Amino acid sequence: MSDTIERLEKLNREAELGGGEARIERQHDKGKLTARERIDLLLDPGSFHEVDKLKTHRCVDFDMDQKKIPGDGVVTGYGKVDGRTVFVFAQDFTVFGGSLSGAFAEKICKIMDLAIDNGAPLVGLNDSGGARIQEGVVSLAGYADIFDRNVAASGVIPQISAIMGPCAGGAVYSPALTDFVCMVEDTSYMFITGPDVVKTVTSEEVTKQDLGGAQVHSEESGVSHFESKNEEEAIAQIRELLSFVPSNNADDPPRVATDDPVDRADESLMDLVPEDPKKPYDMTSLIEQVADDNHYFEVQKEWAKNITIGFARFDGRPVGVVANQPQHLAGCLDIDSSVKAARFVRFCDSFNIPLLTFVDVPGFLPGVDQEYNGIIRHGAKLLYAFSEATVPKITFITRKAYGGAYDVMSSKHIGGDLNYAFPTAEIAVMGPDGAVNIVFREELENADNPDEKKDELVERYRETFANPFRAAELGYIDEVIKPTKTRERICSGLELLENKRDENPPKKHGNIPL
Ligand code: HXC
Repeated sequence: MSDTIERLEKLNREAELGGGEARIERQHDKGKLTARERIDLLLDPGSFHEVDKLKTHRCVDFDMDQKKIPGDGVVTGYGKVDGRTVFVFAQDFTVFGGSLSGAFAEKICKIMDLAIDNGAPLVGLNDSGGARIQEGVVSLAGYADIFDRNVAASGVIPQISAIMGPCAGGAVYSPALTDFVCMVEDTSYMFITGPDVVKTVTSEEVTKQDLGGAQVHSEESGVSHFESKNEEEAIAQIRELLSFVPSNNADDPPRVATDDPVDRADESLMDLVPEDPKKPYDMTSLIEQVADDNHYFEVQKEWAKNITIGFARFDGRPVGVVANQPQHLAGCLDIDSSVKAARFVRFCDSFNIPLLTFVDVPGFLPGVDQEYNGIIRHGAKLLYAFSEATVPKITFITRKAYGGAYDVMSSKHIGGDLNYAFPTAEIAVMGPDGAVNIVFREELENADNPDEKKDELVERYRETFANPFRAAELGYIDEVIKPTKTRERICSGLELLENKRDENPPKKHGNIPL
């Protein structure tokens, strides 16, 4: 017995040491933590239960049978985040560069199966040189087994990926299939083909960071949802993200206690939306003012800034917020903002998180570039996502709601449960300028003073159509409210809609315009 215990302890020590002291030091020198240090930061203290700690690879080629490390380069298991169960895998770069063997993939798959079967989120901490070269196709098969589970888990349990080192080639597709991707500045990168291949194929010279660093994927490609300065910050973001989401698609998002009064009314809200329809304002400050403790957890902050998405709580209940941002491109909908919001709406709907929408949208962005790149099918994604969503949907029109964008932004017509408008709302087919040019072309051409005439007609149009009252008369808006009432209406609305029942017709799955 004591011999066996001794052997067990020795194996445990070997597993815990991974690739050894020197490689751990190299990892630290790069500003990176080890797999085990990352797990310690992620989980509540003392809650980690490791699985397959002694599993090893089975490769014999290239003398690999002489090189075995218990655990084989990935630490897997489960533990708690704020007392709730979470499954986790952390790739260990100190062992064969965190490269994926057949056994390594089996460990991840086991954890994924447990997460799906037990309805708990999965967090993957990625830091890997990709397919283990010595294992060849066995490694590729392992990736495919993981991808297949990522797809099966999609919409069943929340899946979060942190990229904390290399993530290249087909390996990027596991994080890409998950709900959220977090990247760390300077130390992480993701690309399909690295700088050398890029240079050979396209003659472009580019560094790893410029090709696929955190900044690139957070600002340009939209692959990453969170960019952090270091690993500690990335892990804190993951813990906060988990606090807003339920453990699985059969659960409700966790409600927390709050001291923030439901009827808290901030008078400064009365002046937040400028009277001048051309003047920008910061939509996130409106969200912050009305949310519990003025806290808004923004997602994809730096990409497609003309729409903001994120999480907030009202009377302790989590919601997913989608809002046009007049500070960027006047808050119009374009390809990137439509895709960004559509995916977020679908995430929230998958996981029973109510949707709160703030609308100030002058329409879809005009232009050859947008048309050539498919604004029609990309814009349709957002329409599809809002329309398909059966979670509670509460919408506020703060100012402009023009054209098709009015319909798209969680309008009454596509299933908005509670639709409010501020007195500053303008709901019309298009803005007064464009409308007058079309409808009154002849009058303008024949006018003695066309500018004066135009001002007069614009004012007439604005009084007739560019206000919330036509829509309110028709019941498309449930109530025109003072902005100070926003928080109270959201809190009471969420309570009202708590037991909402809504189902789409039975189908295998819809055919969202991808
Ligand atoms: C086996 C690997 C490895 C790999 C790294 N190592 N990548 N072993 N398979 N894919 C080992 C190295 O031999 C080394 O071992 C240790 O990990 C650390 O690697 P270094 O090169 O010293 O580290 P660094 O200088 O930081 O460079 C990291 C790196 C580089 C950029 C990731 O190692 C690299 O380019 N690796 C190959 C990446 C690659 O081409 N992978 C295949 C991609 S295609 P020792 O013993 O010296 O410490 C792919 C397809 C997936 O993954 C398909 C899915 C469908």
